[in-house]
Amino acid sequence: GEEQLRDGGLHRRRVVVLFSLPFHGHLNPTLKLAALLRARGLAVTVLHTDFNAPDPARHPGLAFVPIHETPLQDTAVSPDSDILAKLLALNAAIAAPFRQALASLQDAVACAVVDGQCYAAMDAAGELGVPVLALRTDSAAALRNMLAIPRLRDAGYLPFKEEQLDEPAPGLEPLRVRDLIRVDGCDTDELCGFVTSVADAVRASVSGIVFNTFEAIEAPELAKIQRELSLPAFAVGPLHLLSQTPPPAEQSLHAPDRGCLAWLDARTPRSVLYVSLGSLACVNRAAFEEMAWGLAGSGVPFLWVVRPGMVTGGAAGEEAPPPLPDGLEEKMRGRGKIVTWAPQREVLAHDAIGAFWTHCGWNSILESICEGVPMLVQPCFADQMVNARYVTHEWGVGMEVGEVIERERVAKAVTKLMVGEDGARMRERARRLQVQASAATSLALDSLVQYILSL
Ligand code: UDX
Repeated sequence: GEEQLRDGGLHRRRVVVLFSLPFHGHLNPTLKLAALLRARGLAVTVLHTDFNAPDPARHPGLAFVPIHETPLQDTAVSPDSDILAKLLALNAAIAAPFRQALASLQDAVACAVVDGQCYAAMDAAGELGVPVLALRTDSAAALRNMLAIPRLRDAGYLPFKEEQLDEPAPGLEPLRVRDLIRVDGCDTDELCGFVTSVADAVRASVSGIVFNTFEAIEAPELAKIQRELSLPAFAVGPLHLLSQTPPPAEQSLHAPDRGCLAWLDARTPRSVLYVSLGSLACVNRAAFEEMAWGLAGSGVPFLWVVRPGMVTGGAAGEEAPPPLPDGLEEKMRGRGKIVTWAPQREVLAHDAIGAFWTHCGWNSILESICEGVPMLVQPCFADQMVNARYVTHEWGVGMEVGEVIERERVAKAVTKLMVGEDGARMRERARRLQVQASAATSLALDSLVQYILSL
């Protein structure tokens, strides 16, 4: 039943408030956690930005309240600005409106579960005296890496030095220096500034950390986080498995092209490579062409998500996907299908899929693991470098495309994974992780609910 609290003579409902930054990869797991908490009998209110606002009709049982953020600067929304610039701009835009919205809620707030990249929201809730839990939509390993950045800078590992790239990152093994979180084009001071804001908010305001991960893949990292931060950590993932939301009912920021499922139906089992760089990562025109020629040259059927705006260097404001290189259609001979957005979970669950070429966003990795699909990794920025290292070297369920995207190497890597013996071994291990993922229980969620009620 819902908790009642006597407050100044009035009975007020106690609600759990959730807040996510408006990125696809953050909103989706947040809304799944919201639904799970609701299903456990808690009253849940989702505060959200006007930008990329969720559709309440898709989430019965949850209350939605817009914070009406300060109009976002171009840096927060432009596909050309780097992820760090986006995070800083969003934090700045939501700080005051989030605080105001939280303070004006009619209900008593039992606790606020806020995006673990959003120091502005963690701080604001903390200042209002609301107990705060940080929700990390990335891995425990990625958070450990983030928190270690100032230490690594002081020890001389950052900014990166060419000769140190293959050294182990001290305290963060199996990561090497080259696997550390990085954002091209942003300097170490900027990165340290952001990380310090997050770390300070966590240390000052937070009573626990919630991760969309599970023990079988990250038990050591979770234990280290609890020890290092002296905070309870709840590994409540994989959220998309536990929440059982059927994919068509999911929140999606773009309309998926469901026609590709029929295209997959006509393919033989495990014959198709699914290629997607997620919702934010971009490639330049040259890399795009090398990917295209490499895929066509591999002879392997592929389903490729080419998002509008994903290929940089087009005319300013150009949103349409770029034309394919001349002669490529002919070389693909109907083996390739290109869509602007795919129903990814259903694609990965399809029999015809043999492997996933991914940018290593954390949601994509969890979704691939949960379907037992091995991966070709091409990390682009931020935690994707960390995730790629765990996929290839810790879990053994994937291999690298190569540091330089070049057509011959692409074709070779694709063939190796799709039809080679190494690929078969990775598929076997991916199947084992799939079994462990489906065995991940909701025990962590139960203890999270207990903890929330105790705050
Ligand atoms: C962002 C950050 O870039 C990443 O570093 C962090 O780990 C998570 O947030 P994003 O690009 O959104 O990543 O990737 P990811 O976490 O993989 O999430 C993408 C989501 O979009 C997945 O849930 C995936 O199923 C979905 N998707 C992607 C589709 O539904 N269709 C598509 O065509 C592509």
